[in-house]
Amino acid sequence: MSLQDNIARILISPAEIQSRIETLAAEINAAYTDEDRPLLVCVLKGAFLFLADLTRFLDMRHEIDFMEVSSYGAGTRSSGVVRILLDLERNVEGRHVLIVEDIVDTGRTLSYMIRHLNARNPASIRICTLLSKPSRRQIDVRVDWIGFEVPDEFVVGYGLDYAEEYRNLPYIGVLRPEVYRD
Ligand code: PRP
Repeated sequence: MSLQDNIARILISPAEIQSRIETLAAEINAAYTDEDRPLLVCVLKGAFLFLADLTRFLDMRHEIDFMEVSSYGAGTRSSGVVRILLDLERNVEGRHVLIVEDIVDTGRTLSYMIRHLNARNPASIRICTLLSKPSRRQIDVRVDWIGFEVPDEFVVGYGLDYAEEYRNLPYIGVLRPEVYRD
């Protein structure tokens, strides 16, 4: 039994993902100057593939750093409690920060991160997410770039997991409900 057998359908293909990221990168290139030299903050683990592809389409000067936050544990729904598992290495004071997320669901993780980073006095904070589930939003966060809006279904692949698996799938797929309902 392969991971693919547990996917009900493919929502976004690898080609669609790459094409959208190229467009997002062009917009992000245009939004910053070389002097801004933004710090891209990849939110681990889900955004690792998105950051890897996005950074290769950017031609402005920039740096990358990583934060690991978790709100889900091993379940399928956000616990509402956000924990920092790994903090930034770089100092963000006076820096232009671009948060790179895989998905905004309730908005709790982002809202927590924005508060956390704002306390360190960055020059600006902008947000880029590959996916957004607007129907699940509980906290209204202003997101500057959204790759795709997705329906309220359990999506995995291209960095997104179920119980730490499926992150390696090259597409965004819908997980069969029977996989997480047993
Ligand atoms: C997921 C995702 C976002 C967050 C979104 O992370 O990567 O960071 O949940 O949900 P929210 O808008 O309801 O807060 P998760 O906690 O599953 O960690 P992971 O990225 O390591 O899988």
